[in-house]
Amino acid sequence: MTPRDPCTENHGTPGTVAATRVQMTEVVLPKDTNKYGGVFGGRVMELIDICGYLAAVRHYRGNLVTASIDHLSFHHPVKMGHIMCLYGQVNAAFRHSVEVGVKVISENPETGDRRHVVSAYLTFAALDELGRPAAVAPLKLETAEDKRRAKSAQKRRELRLALREDGGK
Ligand SMILES: CC(C)(COP(=O)(O)OP(=O)(O)OC[C@H]1O[C@@H](n2cnc3c(N)ncnc32)[C@H](O)[C@@H]1OP(=O)(O)O)[C@@H](O)C(=O)NCCC(=O)NCCS
Repeated sequence: MTPRDPCTENHGTPGTVAATRVQMTEVVLPKDTNKYGGVFGGRVMELIDICGYLAAVRHYRGNLVTASIDHLSFHHPVKMGHIMCLYGQVNAAFRHSVEVGVKVISENPETGDRRHVVSAYLTFAALDELGRPAAVAPLKLETAEDKRRAKSAQKRRELRLALREDGGK
């Protein structure tokens, strides 16, 4: 029997949303917590950025930088010793960038109780070896859910680009 490869199993055909899906599981360690025993928001943001990058690089196999992270709201604290499960995927591919969605769920290791902590939308810009914007291949949308997410991503992109324009960058 061929050994199962956890890095590649459940991945779809290259270029599809399914092929970009990432799951990360982390435990909250003492070094990542504040004096109330809850995880620092910055630690969660770091994990979101990593999870987002991994999803993005499964679509664009080159240099990527985080161009922006949309508004974040933390709904629940995550306690030391609890588990953080991160789920990421590319929602849409644009000319030189992709939008990735990352959802963070906390899990109580004793009860198995799971709660939605935060969701994030990140934009990664694709760059060539000289640091110039690089063309990204279109994302293959296979399901109704893929299409719904891509449509929402398009609306968020318009808002983002308008804000960018407004800020002069
Ligand atoms: C992001 C960055 C590459 C944009 O460079 P630029 O010269 O302004 O290039 P462009 O305007 O052509 O943008 C390139 C792509 O990024 C997208 N982009 C740039 N800024 C963005 C923002 N704030 N939000 C969303 N998308 C953005 C553009 O829309 C474009 O993609 P598109 O063609 O699909 O629309 C550049 O600002 C950069 O390198 N920033 C630092 C990134 C970094 O180091 N991040 C880590 C944390 S510091």
